[in-house]
Amino acid sequence: MFFASRLSILCAVAMTVSPVFASTIKIGEVGSMSGSEATFGLSTHEGISLAVKEQNAKGGIKGKKIELINLDNQGKPEEAAVATTKLVTQDKVMAILGEVASSRSMAMAPIAQQNKVPMISPSSTNPKVTEIGNYIFRVCFIDPFQGKVMAKFAAEQLKAKRVAILRDVKSDYSVGLSNFFTEAFKQSGGEIVVDQSYSSGEVDFNSQLTSIRAKKPDAIFIPGYYTEVGLIAKQARKLGIKAPLLGGDGWDSTKLFEIGGKSLNNSYFSNHYSQEDQAPSVQNFIKSYKSEYNKVPDGLAAMGYDAAKVLFAAMEKTKSLASTEIRDAIAQTKDFPAVTGNITIDAKRNASKPAVVLEVKDGKFLYKSTVNP
Ligand code: PHE
Repeated sequence: MFFASRLSILCAVAMTVSPVFASTIKIGEVGSMSGSEATFGLSTHEGISLAVKEQNAKGGIKGKKIELINLDNQGKPEEAAVATTKLVTQDKVMAILGEVASSRSMAMAPIAQQNKVPMISPSSTNPKVTEIGNYIFRVCFIDPFQGKVMAKFAAEQLKAKRVAILRDVKSDYSVGLSNFFTEAFKQSGGEIVVDQSYSSGEVDFNSQLTSIRAKKPDAIFIPGYYTEVGLIAKQARKLGIKAPLLGGDGWDSTKLFEIGGKSLNNSYFSNHYSQEDQAPSVQNFIKSYKSEYNKVPDGLAAMGYDAAKVLFAAMEKTKSLASTEIRDAIAQTKDFPAVTGNITIDAKRNASKPAVVLEVKDGKFLYKSTVNP
């Protein structure tokens, strides 16, 4: 009797003290499962869940099953921070996967860092995300590169000389990518003829687009997220603007076409992966994703899957699953064969990978080219 109660107290203490003693391996995930960027969170979650299912079918990690705890932040940085605190203090997760949007990753990262919980963002591309600390990683390229890719595409493929920018000032991603694009486009001899802004959540872009139209640009760079970009495309065409619209990975959603329709024809954006890529790694992933969810994965799903795989591989390499060991193992990731390209984590905890340029045509994303770093 005495012994049994002592034992249960001991166990209870052990369970709250260290996730290493828990019966499952708890992994946290924070994403926009609702709100105007819901497809980002939902797709990423599907990718991560598929990776978890595959890993658990192989016996989990070190004999323990993975338990994924997914929290919705409704697309809000404040909620992302609250969710991260809960995962760290209450659920005692061993690692966190997320976020997609850079502003939300930047709200989460200081909490993960302070508590020494390794965090991997699948797809946040603003450089500042991983600068927050040595527990913060990503498995995607960063925006100085993405900006260069689209500047080069505008200058060389579209022969654009005069480009307009329409940026979302509420998004670290949009502001950063606008600046990196500007720098690269000017370096290639081009000119930014007008730089307009909006705040995510706005629905009427007529005044910004009217100012842009007056400058007769060769192309318009709109590095926002799909909900606003879809509306902007519609309103731009209505105003008679025929110039190609350009964007970044934030365009990647099937909802983009639902919102913007044919207005998006003659548009191009950079992304992390193309469904048309015939590499066996890509086609095998599409096949297993399709059999699980009955649809073709977008880039977010692929990135979520890859982030989870990198994390699981790192955890398997540790001796005791201590957080410092997991951190070190993620940092040592080298040539990891992922769906979105081989992943090597560099000294700044970023991955250097190729980008693809896609054309939007009648609701399809057509592969145009691959750009290597
Ligand atoms: N790269 C974007 C950001 O940092 C997020 C994103 C990635 C959106 C991939 C769509 C697809 O905010």
